[in-house]
Amino acid sequence: MEIEGKKILVTGGAGFIGSHLVERFIKENVGEIRVYDNFSTGRRSSIDENKVKIIEGDILDFKKLNSTMKDVDIVSHHAAELEVFTGIENSIHDLKTNIEGTLNVLNSALSNGIKKVIYASSGGVYGQAQYLPEDEKHPLMPHWPYGVSKLAGEKYCLQYYLLHNLATVSLRYGIVYGPREWYGRVLTLFIKRALEGKAPIIFGAGNQMRDYVYIDDAVEANILAIKSETVNGSVFNVGGDSSYSIENVAKIVIELINPNIKPIYDNPEPGESSKYQPNRRRLPGELQDFILDSSQIHKKLGYKPKTNFKDGVKKEIEWIRNNSMFWNYKARV
Ligand SMILES: NC(=O)c1ccc[n+]([C@@H]2O[C@H](COP(=O)([O-])OP(=O)(O)OC[C@H]3O[C@@H](n4cnc5c(N)ncnc54)[C@H](O)[C@@H]3O)[C@@H](O)[C@H]2O)c1
Repeated sequence: MEIEGKKILVTGGAGFIGSHLVERFIKENVGEIRVYDNFSTGRRSSIDENKVKIIEGDILDFKKLNSTMKDVDIVSHHAAELEVFTGIENSIHDLKTNIEGTLNVLNSALSNGIKKVIYASSGGVYGQAQYLPEDEKHPLMPHWPYGVSKLAGEKYCLQYYLLHNLATVSLRYGIVYGPREWYGRVLTLFIKRALEGKAPIIFGAGNQMRDYVYIDDAVEANILAIKSETVNGSVFNVGGDSSYSIENVAKIVIELINPNIKPIYDNPEPGESSKYQPNRRRLPGELQDFILDSSQIHKKLGYKPKTNFKDGVKKEIEWIRNNSMFWNYKARV
């Protein structure tokens, strides 16, 4: 489906990925953009209010969501509870936001005759890798309640396609990074410490592999999925240009910010805090390796990540240097 001239609703549009999607939709000359967000983590400052209609609301408020979707053509569903620790400690909240919230989006989409729904899923649905890289056929054994609820959302998207012919596509992102990434994940922790002249703290040996996808590439995957008429009901991995070990991530950050720093290695038990950084806890059920096989989305939609990890990190560093308050607000550690 062409995007130009269409009305698009982005749930979670004030968040990291959502706000970049909104920027891209503006460039694509869409007819109207509505952002539906409860601002639990998102920010008004990330959206150009002159070009976007902002509706402050919760995806758990079906009535409001349903009426906000009136006359919309395309829905991009990015609102979610992302915090892995929150999911572990308050699994019902995680379930409500990510499953009930997604069902509200799907039911509103049905009742408003929406032509396309993109669902932001996660590579977290796979759990510990049984083989690498992980393709879409890899067993689904999420490690955390977050992965369970994201997987349920995906399965409901498929059901609504099969039962009601609602055109849905789910995108299983790797670790999306870039300007406006929220503070709390490894790359942001490393960058912030390096900018403060402190050593990045690596948990374990640092040989854990991670799939980083630059924000513009993740956005491009969304655009391709919206435009295609032939992949409805599909699920795609969306990975980055290559995979990197945590040690390598630290080295790149150090090289770009302050080559005199040496990383520190720490080995807290799962769920325990770092002795060097007491407000940082190690995830229980930490993944050893997380590498997505993106060949399906390449084959079906022509997706090819363009941004090399080092260049992307450079852009994120440049952005945070100019927006240093961003990581002090609603930080997730
Ligand atoms: N960032 C990543 O690396 C990554 C990886 C895999 C999947 N995802 C998925 O992508 C989506 C967006 O992630 P993000 O990194 O932009 O996160 P984010 O926290 O920056 O954005 C989420 C947005 O949703 C809003 N929101 C949360 N709960 C809501 C609710 N109940 N009602 C309305 N709005 C609500 C928040 O205020 C925020 O603006 C999520 O669905 C997430 O699961 C992200």
